[in-house]
Amino acid sequence: MVSRYHTPVLTWIHSAANAELEFSYLPFTNNHLPSVFMRRAIYPGSFDPVTNGHLDIIQRGCKLFDEIIVAVLVNPEKTAFFTVEERCEILTEVLKDIDRSDCRVTVESFAGLMVEYAAERNANAIVRGIRAISDYEYELQMALMNRRLQPRLETVFMMPAEEYSYVSSRLVKEVFHLGAPIKDLVPPLVEQRMREKSSK
Ligand code: PNS
Repeated sequence: MVSRYHTPVLTWIHSAANAELEFSYLPFTNNHLPSVFMRRAIYPGSFDPVTNGHLDIIQRGCKLFDEIIVAVLVNPEKTAFFTVEERCEILTEVLKDIDRSDCRVTVESFAGLMVEYAAERNANAIVRGIRAISDYEYELQMALMNRRLQPRLETVFMMPAEEYSYVSSRLVKEVFHLGAPIKDLVPPLVEQRMREKSSK
C-alpha cells in the first residue's frame, strides 16, 4: 500500500561490524501519529470574546494535536457580554480562517467540572495559554487540581506570540466600552459583533 505519510523517522540498521543511523520515511503524517494514537485536546475557556491570542494558541495547538475541541464554559454565575451560543457561533466562524494544518478543530459548550467533560470526550490533554508569570500561579493551581481529579489528563501550557502577551478578553471589553480601537486584538468579526451588540 502506498503511504500518504512522510515524516522522517530514525531507524537503526544493524550490520555485523557496526550500527549505522539513517533516516527513512515511515508511515507518519507531518508531526501526526496514526489514528490509533490520535491525540485529542480540550481548549477550555470563557472566550467572551475570542481574541487573537486565543486563535494563536489554537494554531500552535494544531501542531501538537490531531483534534482540538474549543470548549466554552457555561457559567450562569458570571455576567457575560456575549451569550454562550453567540460565543460558539463566533468561534466557529473565525476558526474557519486560521491555519489548522490537518488538525480537526470543533467548538462545543460545557457545564460543570471540566475534567469530567474532558473524560467524556476521551481527551488526552487540556490546553491553556500562559501570557505572563501572573497567569502562571492561577493556571498552575488549576492544572494541579485538575490532575488530582483526573490523573490521566495532562495540562499543556502554551505561550502565545509576544504581540498577544497583554491581550485578554477582559481588557478588550474594557477598552472597547471606553471607545478605544480593538483592531488587531480580536478578529474583525468579533469587533463587528461587539459594535452591533452594544448599539442595541
Ligand atoms: O477563560 P477562562 O475564564 O480563564 O477559563 C477558565 C476555565 C473555563 C478553564 C475554568 O474556569 C474551568 O475549567 N471551569 C470549569 C469548572 C471546573 O472544572 N472548575 C475546577 C477548575 S480546577
